Amino acid sequence: MRMVDIITKKRDGIALTDEEIRFFIEGYTHGTIPDYQASALAMAIYFRDMNDSEIAALTRAMVDSGDTVDLSPIAGLKVDKHSTGGVGDTTTLVLAPLVASVNVPVAKMSGRGLGFTGGTLDKLESISGFSVEMDGLQFIDHVNRDQIAVIGQSGDLVPADKKLYALRDVSGSIESIPLIASSVMSKKIAAGADAIVLEVTCGSGAFMKSERDAIRLAETMVRIGIRVGRKTAAVITDMSQPLGFAIGNALEVKEAIDTLRGHGPEDLKELVLELGSRMVVFAERAKTRQEARLLLEQALDQGRAFDKFRQFIENQGGDPSVADHPERLPQAKYQIELPARSSGVIAEMKADQIGLAAMLLGAGRATKEEQINHATGIVLHKKVGDSVAKDEPLLTIHSDSKDVAHVVRLLNTAIRLADQASRPALIHKIIE
Ligand code: URA
Ligand code: CA
Repeated sequence: MRMVDIITKKRDGIALTDEEIRFFIEGYTHGTIPDYQASALAMAIYFRDMNDSEIAALTRAMVDSGDTVDLSPIAGLKVDKHSTGGVGDTTTLVLAPLVASVNVPVAKMSGRGLGFTGGTLDKLESISGFSVEMDGLQFIDHVNRDQIAVIGQSGDLVPADKKLYALRDVSGSIESIPLIASSVMSKKIAAGADAIVLEVTCGSGAFMKSERDAIRLAETMVRIGIRVGRKTAAVITDMSQPLGFAIGNALEVKEAIDTLRGHGPEDLKELVLELGSRMVVFAERAKTRQEARLLLEQALDQGRAFDKFRQFIENQGGDPSVADHPERLPQAKYQIELPARSSGVIAEMKADQIGLAAMLLGAGRATKEEQINHATGIVLHKKVGDSVAKDEPLLTIHSDSKDVAHVVRLLNTAIRLADQASRPALIHKIIE
């Protein structure tokens, strides 16, 4: 088999066989196929697309390119959730203890934030002592005993994706649905998931800017998941404005605690129940979504999800007292309010620019090597569709520096007032 023949075949719009796809992934992972050929094939895929059988073959070959996590010592079906990312996306911090509290095992591998998108590991590490490092045995023990553990990437999972993603990033083929779908699904499958609930975000703060693209990506991932034998569903959600009110690591941990205690933002709670009820059904802890939702609502109302959060922190070496005393989380030196420049209704709060403003305050990193500041970020007081009076605070900036003029400028362009505006729907569509 020759790589050049595979490239020209795809260039001419002919579907590749499983063997050809495997030859490419194995050769590229081991370095016998050079970057320039891999990059030519990725571009041919970008223009010519792939059918479902090709994408499934690509996903399987990528899973087989490296280590896989064996979660079989954990009793029950392992359901994972994946989000395509967003701004102020506090979901996992609430969802993980909530579903664990109704006996759905959560054996989760999470990532760090980059650019305007946050990462669950960074948020958890704002809790003093909290560690996302443990060996495989400890991880399994925690989940078997308490249904919950969250760790950072360990082992050499999907090395083909690491190489291919970095190559696509610098050669103009990131925005290809078959390549994104196989990239995401291979990582979830290699991490041991039996079933996958996907949150595909759309809007300014998302990877997919338009609803149409988000739906296409979600439909593709759901079909591929089912084809490779994993129960899969996707929820398309709005990321035109940040989720909830808090953006920033410790600020989001506090928001998660508020939500687990029953007084968090409505949109965050709704999203968690929507995703969580699908996880509970996939894990076969409830027969219907209505039954699952009721279970989760009771776990929230009766404080069991909150207790599970406290136990989770303690298990991973964190200070569990922050659950009852969120003021013990890192606090920024200055809290600066941003007043509305006129009265009106909020028509836009651009998630990407607000995420960027939080990053400039130190809450995120521009490059993988940068350190982050856990205390800083932004707390919104208003969301799209809310009315404001002139000079009323729109949000509070949490900063370690008094000089926030550049952040204020950015935030003022991110927020637009109008005479009227409606609230955007949080859930655009469900694909299952
Ligand atoms: N996220 C991923 O994990 N992979 C892609 O290809 C794009 C976004
Ligand atoms: Ca939030």
